[in-house]
Amino acid sequence: MITENDLKILFTKEEIQNAIKNLGEKINLEYKNEELYLICVLKGSVMFMVDLSKHLKMPLCMEFIRLSSYGSGFTSTGKVNAVDISLPDLNDKNVLIIEDIIDTGHTAKFLIDFLKHNFKTKSLKFCSLLDKKIKREVDIDPDYHAFEVDDKFLVGYGLDYEGFYRNLPYIGYV
Ligand code: IMP
Ligand code: MG
Repeated sequence: MITENDLKILFTKEEIQNAIKNLGEKINLEYKNEELYLICVLKGSVMFMVDLSKHLKMPLCMEFIRLSSYGSGFTSTGKVNAVDISLPDLNDKNVLIIEDIIDTGHTAKFLIDFLKHNFKTKSLKFCSLLDKKIKREVDIDPDYHAFEVDDKFLVGYGLDYEGFYRNLPYIGYV
C-alpha cells in the first residue's frame, strides 16, 4: 500500500480549480444558453463533474453512469465493463461526457460507441480533466481537456489507487 507521504504533487488544488474555471468558460461560450446533458463517468469523474458544473450557466442535466476499466494496480486492462449505464432519452440533446482521465482511450471509445448506437444526439462531445496522450491505443481525442500528462500513475481529485485517495484535493503521483 502506498501512503500520502509517497506522493509528489503534480497539480495543486489551486491549479486544478483555475483550469476548471477556464474550461467552464469555454463550455459556456460553446453551448451559449442551450440545454446540456453532462454524463459523469463514475467513480473517478465525480469531483471534476461537481466542480465544473458550478461554472456552467446553461440549463444543465447531470447524469451518472458507472464503467470500469482498471482491474487493480497501475495498468489499464483495455477491457471496459458497463457496471451501470442507465440513461434518459438523449435523442436530440447536447451531450457532454465528463471523464477524469483519458489513457488508452478504450473507455472513451466504448462510451461514445454506446451513445451513438442508442441515440441520435444533437451533439456529442468529450471533456476530460487529464489527457495521457502518450498511452493512447485507439484514435480518439477529447474535445476539451485541462492538462496533458505523462505516463505516470496519478492519484487524487477522483483518481484512485485500489479505491483510495479519490478525496485528495490535489493530483499526485508515486
Ligand atoms: P482508458 O480506458 O485506458 O482510457 O482508461 C480510462 C480510465 O482508467 C480512467 O477513467 C481512470 O479511471 C483510469 N485511469 C487511467 N489512468 C489512471 C491513473 O493514472 N490513475 C488512476 N486511474 C487511471
Ligand atoms: Mg474513470
